[in-house]
Amino acid sequence: MTTTKRKKPEELRSHRWYGAKDMRSFGHRSRTAQMGYNRNDYAGKPVIAIINTWSDINPCHSHFRQRAEEVKRGIWQAGGFPVEMPAISLSEPFQKPTTMLYRNLLAMETEELLRSYPADACVLMGGCDKTTPALLMGAISMNLPTIFLPAGPMLRGDYRGQFLGSGSDVWKYWAELRAGNITESDWAEIENGIARSPGHCMTMGTASTMTSTVEALGLSLSGYASIPAPDSRHAQMATQTGRRIVEMAWEDLKPSDILTPASFDNAVMTTLALSGSTNAAVHLIALSKRAGFNLTLERFDELARKIPVLANVRPSGKYLMEDFFYAGGLRALLKQLGSLLSLKEKTVDGKTIGELIANATVFNDDVIRSIDNAMVKSDGLAILKGNLAPDGAVIKPPAAESHLLKHTGKAVVFKNYDDLSARIDSPTLDIDANSVIVLQNAGPQGAPGMPEWGQLPIPKKLLEQGVRDMVRISDARMSGTSYGACVLHVTPESYIGGPLAFVKDGDLIELDVPARKLNVLISDEEMAKRKAAWVAPIPKFERGFGKLYLQHIQQADKGCDFDFLETQVSPTHSDTQKDGSRGGEPEIH
Ligand code: FES
Repeated sequence: MTTTKRKKPEELRSHRWYGAKDMRSFGHRSRTAQMGYNRNDYAGKPVIAIINTWSDINPCHSHFRQRAEEVKRGIWQAGGFPVEMPAISLSEPFQKPTTMLYRNLLAMETEELLRSYPADACVLMGGCDKTTPALLMGAISMNLPTIFLPAGPMLRGDYRGQFLGSGSDVWKYWAELRAGNITESDWAEIENGIARSPGHCMTMGTASTMTSTVEALGLSLSGYASIPAPDSRHAQMATQTGRRIVEMAWEDLKPSDILTPASFDNAVMTTLALSGSTNAAVHLIALSKRAGFNLTLERFDELARKIPVLANVRPSGKYLMEDFFYAGGLRALLKQLGSLLSLKEKTVDGKTIGELIANATVFNDDVIRSIDNAMVKSDGLAILKGNLAPDGAVIKPPAAESHLLKHTGKAVVFKNYDDLSARIDSPTLDIDANSVIVLQNAGPQGAPGMPEWGQLPIPKKLLEQGVRDMVRISDARMSGTSYGACVLHVTPESYIGGPLAFVKDGDLIELDVPARKLNVLISDEEMAKRKAAWVAPIPKFERGFGKLYLQHIQQADKGCDFDFLETQVSPTHSDTQKDGSRGGEPEIH
């Protein structure tokens, strides 16, 4: 791929702030001088916004202050003018009730920072789960030249010489603690060894899934999504990102020049081959809609039927992201998929994805499998439909015990998370290993924010009997590091009167993953009767961002974006502004 177009300095967007001969541009220049720069530092150069989601409370991004300096080094080297702009840091381990409540807020902040300041191009610094889709949703809507800089996974966890995986081993050892198989002292030792460097979760959780899919979309420099955060090659990547974004500003290579329906298919196929997080089904749909396309759950399912799982990484496999990087990383995995991908899609590198992976090599074929030796032949994710989920639900079959993928059992229903917490370990709870655990009111509006509650806990008395997996159903999401026969994202959600709201204790629920079915075995008449008796709950927020959220959040099958932020599938003149962004440009006064 070659890009011949080059902007002239006076065509840069920032020229309207810095280059005009008027009183306001005097103000912009004099205030830049106030920060110690003179005209030689910025005149005629692209202004590169570095949107940095560093925060003292985000351990996954704790190296970002240093990485921002390394990005700036590359920008200066290439003749750009770096401007670092902090944005809300969505810290997965700390933010309550869930970072998902704030994904769209960061997306809005990103878009408006880029719109309201003199940015010609941007580097987005993210990685902890929701930061990746949020930053990109905003940047795609603004449509300036953009490179996403992934935080990189942390090093493998360590416990007495055994590797520990983020999330996955928390759930595993928590179950063993509750079952009485490890002690409080063992648990404390795990606490100190499971997260031992900067970087995001190092299992194939949402963070690793989304940074990989962004590279597959062509919006990160190739080969960089899985570099461990503390590796010196990560710092080198930051500087290279800085150099490349300056070139992209001159080339005017924007997300709208890179993203296509086929590049989104590549991202979905990447998710499937990685056995990536179920959360990708929400985020990629939201990103596609920002780009003006219409990726659907049905498309995920179509592709899942033909794409093998090639990454042997937890929670579905054995290894961790550090091993995946040493085994060749994402480029090597994409090379295995080969012609299943659309290889002619453009990337921020200025080359096609096919050119970038042509010489990729697998260095450990147990970590990155060939198609002939796949972990599973298909169904990295499956989309279920039925009278319990008319608009769809998601399950990750490779993460479940296989005997549960076709299962009928009696429902044990919890009306919300507090109810679940209060009763799940009750010795008198009427439940056995064949029961189906149902959680209501945990969706986008119900929780609210659709938290990662979907790996519902196994009752203690069943853990003590050796049970480690059961069919569990909710309208919540599940951490990408989780595992189990968990049916997620049931849509429409129960809080707005979806059929999940009408399930009662003892109803038979049928899960049939091969047939893609999810049904509650009651008659249509009984369903109608229960629906008529249902009373809508009172909204949980009466003011502030929460109220805005409740009024505009869409359901999981639509990507949970706010309705007013989506781009029309066929942009009209009024949807796309003169500079290519999908919103108004500020007056420069
Ligand atoms: Fe940040 Fe998992 S907590 S990626």
